[in-house]
Amino acid sequence: MLRHVTSINDLTNDEIERIFSHADAFLASLGDPLVRHRIATSTDKARGRILATLFHEPSTRTRLSFETAMIRLGGQSISSADPATSSAAKGESLADTVRVVSNYADAIVLRHPRDGAARLAAEYASVPIINGGDGAHEHPTQTLCDLFTLRRENKRLRNLNVVVSGDLRGSRTIHSFVYALARFGANIMLMPAKGMELPAHVDERLREEFNCRAVPRQMYEDDNAAINALYVTPDMPHQLSLIPSVEVDAPVDLKIRKKIDVMYVTRFQKERWAEASADYPRIDSNFLRESKYSDTAVLHPLPRVGELDVALDGDSRALYFHQASYGVPIRMALIDLLLTDPAMQGLDRYSGGFATSPRPMYNRPYAAGVRCANLNCIVHDPLERDYIRDKFWLMDGGPAGAQRLRCVYCESNVDAHAAGNMKKREFTVLSVGPTERSSEIPAHLVFFRDRDEALQQGYVEKSPRERHPSHA
Ligand code: NCD
Repeated sequence: MLRHVTSINDLTNDEIERIFSHADAFLASLGDPLVRHRIATSTDKARGRILATLFHEPSTRTRLSFETAMIRLGGQSISSADPATSSAAKGESLADTVRVVSNYADAIVLRHPRDGAARLAAEYASVPIINGGDGAHEHPTQTLCDLFTLRRENKRLRNLNVVVSGDLRGSRTIHSFVYALARFGANIMLMPAKGMELPAHVDERLREEFNCRAVPRQMYEDDNAAINALYVTPDMPHQLSLIPSVEVDAPVDLKIRKKIDVMYVTRFQKERWAEASADYPRIDSNFLRESKYSDTAVLHPLPRVGELDVALDGDSRALYFHQASYGVPIRMALIDLLLTDPAMQGLDRYSGGFATSPRPMYNRPYAAGVRCANLNCIVHDPLERDYIRDKFWLMDGGPAGAQRLRCVYCESNVDAHAAGNMKKREFTVLSVGPTERSSEIPAHLVFFRDRDEALQQGYVEKSPRERHPSHA
């Protein structure tokens, strides 16, 4: 089995810590990235190995720091940085491209405008796929840089108050970051631009899978009026504090602890949405003047386009250039571990992520039943039509007895309110929810978004039953 990194949840907490200690050593050989005229040294750990960077969207930091990392490791990189000059422009599918490039390189870093593209690539590649950003879905290696920055600044994550601001809906960096914050025990405070709130499925995962508790508004709004929602992560013994030498605190008392430890700023993702919000949060020294921001670490994945004042650059709280510079040692560590460490290889992590238990998977029968509701998901890409079909994890919950389905690629949810039998072409409306869990999904099972969809597809309604029709 090949090891891919398509989501931050493909890595365990232990592995993230291993990447960080490995990156510490590389950082020592590179010298302090912010000191001019430093002399960085390279290793030969990846001599003879090749990294391919396949970027179907613009990039400065991610692509160049991956390529620098590979060169610093003694390897080489090949790049397709512009889809207009690759066969994608001729209509080649991503599935074919990664199969071909797997023969040229030992690992592939992929950036793509479609949510879930990295997971499709992982199905077809014969070398590790590293997600360099897929649509609005995730950007796991940026999160490694973000957490590493906080760790270098000696900010343990447990009980830290971390504000994430801006386009929380479209920023893939945010989605990977909040999952990691929750897993390591930080409190997450949301400060979205209007209409750019966290996607419903990310919010749901934070609460249902990563044990976050949503705090009632009256508990925090007096002091943090800009904060739109707050999640706290209760103490969980299996969670690590990221900096092991620091004692784990008692559970946070938000009435007492009002300091903001981290402010993570993001830009409006203009390539994903048509309209900017008029009241987009802008962070400057005026915003940060209150005492609760006196020791706040200001982070930004960059590029910034006005939402983070350049006048802050000389402020000791501004850490975003450190954050960008750590891209090289972090990516050196990740590449090295993926290519050489047996403990990181040979594991199939493609089972819905680590923090969640494996779930049964529903393969949508060709041309029948419900489809992924996210139109930017890779399953809707016309170029990939012959290579991919909708696949869903069967989730617990769902309103009014419906079966909640999570797309395996983009991880967004859709609720199926009806289910039927492909062979008999019959369906029933789901009213009591699944009564049993089985890892064996019957081949004839087909889910529909609702009764109308089933009828439109020529299925005949059977009277409702007490049992889930999939097990009839
Ligand atoms: C981010 C991205 O591409 O998602 N950039 C990066 O990799 N540092 C953030 C962004 O583009 O807003």
